[in-house]
Amino acid sequence: MKTLTITRPDDCHLHVRNGAILKTVLPHTARQFARAIIMPNLKPPVTTVAQALAYRNEILQAIPEGVNFTPLMTLYLTAATTLEEIKRAAECEHVYAFKLYPAGATTNSDAGVADVTKIYPLLAALEKYDLPLLIHGEVTDEDCDIFDRERVFIERYLIDIVKNFPALRIVLEHATTKEAVEFVTSASNKIAATITPQHLLFNRNAILAGGIKPHYYCLPILKRETHRQALINAAISGNPKFFLGTDSAPHLTHLKENACGCAGCYSAFAALELYAQAFEQANSLDKLEGFASFYGADFYGLPRNVEKVTLEKTDWTVPASYDKITPLKSTEILYWKMV
Ligand code: DOR
Ligand code: ZN
Repeated sequence: MKTLTITRPDDCHLHVRNGAILKTVLPHTARQFARAIIMPNLKPPVTTVAQALAYRNEILQAIPEGVNFTPLMTLYLTAATTLEEIKRAAECEHVYAFKLYPAGATTNSDAGVADVTKIYPLLAALEKYDLPLLIHGEVTDEDCDIFDRERVFIERYLIDIVKNFPALRIVLEHATTKEAVEFVTSASNKIAATITPQHLLFNRNAILAGGIKPHYYCLPILKRETHRQALINAAISGNPKFFLGTDSAPHLTHLKENACGCAGCYSAFAALELYAQAFEQANSLDKLEGFASFYGADFYGLPRNVEKVTLEKTDWTVPASYDKITPLKSTEILYWKMV
């Protein structure tokens, strides 16, 4: 049987929620990944070090016995974030970054930043303390076409942020467009991007052709095929600016199969298998390890993991649901399986 053994990976962009959902989803991630950058968009958002530490404890409780997993915490940046809080975060060994959500861009982003230029003093502090800024890069103007929101964010805000804060480490999270790939590729080595499995595997037809498929709806929304091709080329390029971040974002099935369905794809149950499928389709399985296990750790200044994980080439059928959460590709066949 064909197998693939790589260094145990890290997920550099993950939503695990809290409460009951956390208990369902965290074991899936902890089985595959050694570490994950944990998104702070809870209700209420994780805006302080004290909240991040409490959330970290809740996550630690959900790790199955005998499993090694380290949550890497982030804080939610708001217009009310103080310079003192940024200093506290810089001094806290468990906090790794701040997350910038434009207000209204996505799930639980109401507390996000309405005008990015107004928080430049906070970005200066992040730069000073060398704390990475993780960006949900989409504008939220109602008159901006939803398929253009990432490109316009780069033009309107990101170019200026990068110019004004040349030493600030930035991750353009869940890159979805050719323009994002081009921007990150040509920027300094302080600028990186994560790429999700769904944006590597699917284009927007997956949501909209042959009936509306809410489990393929996430933000930034899937784009047209040319953009998917650009993302594949970035992921398999061996360029360390592009690394794995699943953006696995669980929502209860009835909240996605809804007249106003939530954004987010649940992929943690088989994240590595989904990426393996995308890399194999591009004849580049040999490039998966760098993308999944090395470049994210390098960007965050973390030691690379030493354990290994093995995938087998075996067909298996994705369950219809995991505790009321419908996984990506539910009831369909995946071709790789983690041993
Ligand atoms: O699809 C998404 N879901 N995109 C995000 O940016 C947030 C996430 C969530 O938290 O559900
Ligand atoms: Zn996310």
